[in-house]
Order: sequence, then structure tokens, then C-alpha cells
Amino acid sequence: MKILVTAGPTREHLDPVRFISNRSTGKMGFAVAERAALRGHDVTLIAGPVSLATPVNVQRVDVTSARDMLAAVLAHLPQADALVMCAAVADWRPKETSAKKLKKREMAAVLELEPNPDILATIRPQKGGRTFVGFAAETGDPLPEARRKLTDKGLDLIVANDVSLPGSGFAVDTNLVTLVARNGDPETLPLLDKRAVADHIVAWLERNAPCAT
Ligand code: CTP
Repeated sequence: MKILVTAGPTREHLDPVRFISNRSTGKMGFAVAERAALRGHDVTLIAGPVSLATPVNVQRVDVTSARDMLAAVLAHLPQADALVMCAAVADWRPKETSAKKLKKREMAAVLELEPNPDILATIRPQKGGRTFVGFAAETGDPLPEARRKLTDKGLDLIVANDVSLPGSGFAVDTNLVTLVARNGDPETLPLLDKRAVADHIVAWLERNAPCAT
């Protein structure tokens, strides 16, 4: 299967040294790419700014902003059977970006923002027979929001987690997730190493994703 994976945060620059971003470290997405490649799949990994080594046999494309990530996803989607959107895409970007470092005195106290594109919503018309997997990182019970995102974003599977629990979510090697498929009951996995969570996601794709290309 040809699998496209996104991972890590995006960075929305205000100037060359300042940006808006989030706590994602890319570990979950890199684990999905690594395990999928180990199981013999053809994997392309679109990575935001992270400090992780490229997994063996994975083709990596580095991006910075949400708009860069959207362009890379659009370029690689036609060749993919499945997309796993692990990336924590920044929802907003500064309205103005300066090519040179802003001086304190030049900066306003209020930062004007504008929305970034929703990558999944933008590519939905190109889904065809492809399988789309999304993530819902929430604080508190993630299931209501995960179900809403599964429907609103036209996903086949969403991986939900409560990032406020110890050992779950950002910057740790483990994750506590529930797999919510469009058809079927939610499956809560025990606290597992991210590579083991990735194995479950790849195994789900192997059972449920038809060849689309
Ligand atoms: N996502 C995306 N494009 C965005 C934001 C999110 O494609 N601009 C994807 C993420 O990669 C993830 C899924 O959508 O697979 C859910 O991400 P999340 O940040 O939880 O969704 P939002 O729509 O931003 O929801 P919220 O209102 O909770 O911020």
C-alpha cells in the first residue's frame, strides 16, 4: 500500500526568529511511518519542523508552515492509497510576516491572525477511494470531539487521545488512544509505546484500506 503520513507541528512565522506553533514533537507520525515501512509499505512522510531521524525506507519531505504542508500533501496525494494526518497543524498564522527581524518598538501589543487552511477539508474532494485517518488530541474525554471530527472531516478512522493524561500525547514515547472508525465500535487500546500504537493503525489500514491508485 502507498501510505502518506504527516507529522509534527507547523510553524507560522512572524519574522525569521519568531513563530506560532504547538507542542507536537512528531513522535507519533514518525512511528506510523517507521512501522508502515517495516511492514513493507511504500511510505512518504511530510514532516513539520522536528528533530527526529528519518525512518529507514521512508521518503521524507520537510515543510514549515501549514500552507507548505498543504502544498506537499496535494502534490503527493494522487499517488497514495491512504493518508494518515498525524500533524498538529497550526490553525492560525500571523496576518503580516516580516522578512527581517522585527524590533520590539515596531511590534504591536496585539498580534493580528488569519486562519490557515484546514488540510483535510481542502483535500476532501480528491479523496476518491483513498482511506483518510485523522487524529483528535483533546483535553478531557476526546470521544465527542473525535466523533464530530470523523464526520465533519470525512474521515474513515480517527485516533482520539486525551493529552492531559500522563503518558498520553505530546513529547512522550507512549500514547493512550481510542480508534474510532466510521463503521464499528470504538476500540480503546491500553497505554502503549507509540510504535505499538502505530502498529495498530497500520494493521487497521491493512484490514480496511483498499488499493486506490
Ligand atoms: N487538521 C488539518 N488541517 C488543519 C488542522 C487540523 O488537516 N488546519 C487535521 C489534523 O492533522 C488532525 C485533524 O485535522 O488529523 C484534527 O485536528 P485538530 O487540530 O484536532 O482539528 P481542528 O479542526 O483544528 O479542531 P479544534 O477545533 O479542536 O482546534
